[in-house]
Amino acid sequence: MDKLLIVGGHPLHGEIRISGSKNAALPILASTLLTETPMLIKNVPHLRDITTMVGLLGRMGVEVTVDDKLNVLVDTRTINSYSAPYDLVKTMRASVLVLGPLLTRFGQAEVSLPGGCAIGSRPVNLHIQGLRQMGADISVENGYIRARAERLQGTTLYLDLVTVTGTENLLMAAVLAEGATIIENAAKEPEVTDLAKCLSSMGAKIQGAGTDTIEIQGVERLLGAEYEVLPDRIEAGTYLVAAAMTGGYIKLKSADPHSLDAVLAKLREAGAHINTGDNWIELDMRGRSLRAVDIHTSPYPAFPTDMQAQFCALNAVAEGISTVTETVFENRFMHVQELHRLGANIRLEGNTAICTGVKQLYGAPVMATDLRASASLVLAALVAKGETLVDRIYHLDRGYECMEEKLTQLGGEVRRIP
Ligand code: EPU
Repeated sequence: MDKLLIVGGHPLHGEIRISGSKNAALPILASTLLTETPMLIKNVPHLRDITTMVGLLGRMGVEVTVDDKLNVLVDTRTINSYSAPYDLVKTMRASVLVLGPLLTRFGQAEVSLPGGCAIGSRPVNLHIQGLRQMGADISVENGYIRARAERLQGTTLYLDLVTVTGTENLLMAAVLAEGATIIENAAKEPEVTDLAKCLSSMGAKIQGAGTDTIEIQGVERLLGAEYEVLPDRIEAGTYLVAAAMTGGYIKLKSADPHSLDAVLAKLREAGAHINTGDNWIELDMRGRSLRAVDIHTSPYPAFPTDMQAQFCALNAVAEGISTVTETVFENRFMHVQELHRLGANIRLEGNTAICTGVKQLYGAPVMATDLRASASLVLAALVAKGETLVDRIYHLDRGYECMEEKLTQLGGEVRRIP
């Protein structure tokens, strides 16, 4: 298993390009199942989760070609299976995103039930409930969701809580359903809006994406299109925190500042000087001191849970005492024990981490437990004195494209050890 060896203490300095968004590319790849004409998807990041989704489409008989510029061409005409097996779903929960598209286009789907995961129990009951309300016959047996439907029927769906992939699954199901579907209390995340834009480019009739009510008028068929995935806001946020923590300067190209409003506000509060343009963000922390900031995670447009671990790392070395409250997932503090190993002073009380900033962290071997927890360990290692060895970085490879290359380009001392 690969590890990352990081020698801390180098302020990051320079420019990098932000990759396409993992959490937008995944549903967009699943959405290709909605059309029988080829789809070209651009700006797809080169990540393990994307490889898993491409592998899943391939197992169904779908033809997927990836060129050297990471454009992905998908042709579903050869599909011969409507199943997402356990061995793939267990490695990536987002595989459940094929459920809505398969059911609405082919009238059948068999998708392994995702199990629990490192950050919480993460059920998919709202995906299933919504599809049932649209007329699907669904049973859950032997660890599989087995769904059948003639043609799904549009209806009004009220989601009990805000779910990102739940909204995406139901949105994809509704675009080919008969009549109108209204999704109330829908997720407003930029990745949901990006999926809706992609679906619209294929001919879907969607209004209200990005608000909490999405209205969809079902159509008979969709046509393949060419679509470019939006930049990854969590990757961008992670590098901004890295530059802030190391007292450096960074310019992110191909980044979307608007999707990061809540994160940029917290970085400014932490003392960073930030400039933005249409598609770039610049952060300067040189000669400024880092102040701890209180964080409370919630669905978009509030502060994202996917940036919580990174801000725990920031607060660990900032001046002052802060609280970080996680409200989206019940168990997303696995990084705290590992940050302790580097000398952080963080106490957990229920769903709140109370951080007292320390002057210096010290390198140690640490273990990554999930994607964003791993990112927080890398950030801490960049400011720790001496060497930190981050184990199990396959988690990082799921969500950060070429992380060690990008950090090295910015002056970090980071090496992958096979
Ligand atoms: N939930 C239910 N029932 C459901 C669906 C969700 O109880 O049917 C609960 C979950 O257990 C959780 C909350 O609702 O407590 C929100 O979960 P959500 O469904 O929004 O999460 P998700 O769709 O599984 C996506 C991202 C996550 C990100 C969350 C929250 C993808 C592929 N994943 O997950 O990304 O943390 O939304 O923004 O889009 C990551 O990239 O590291 C990551 C975990």
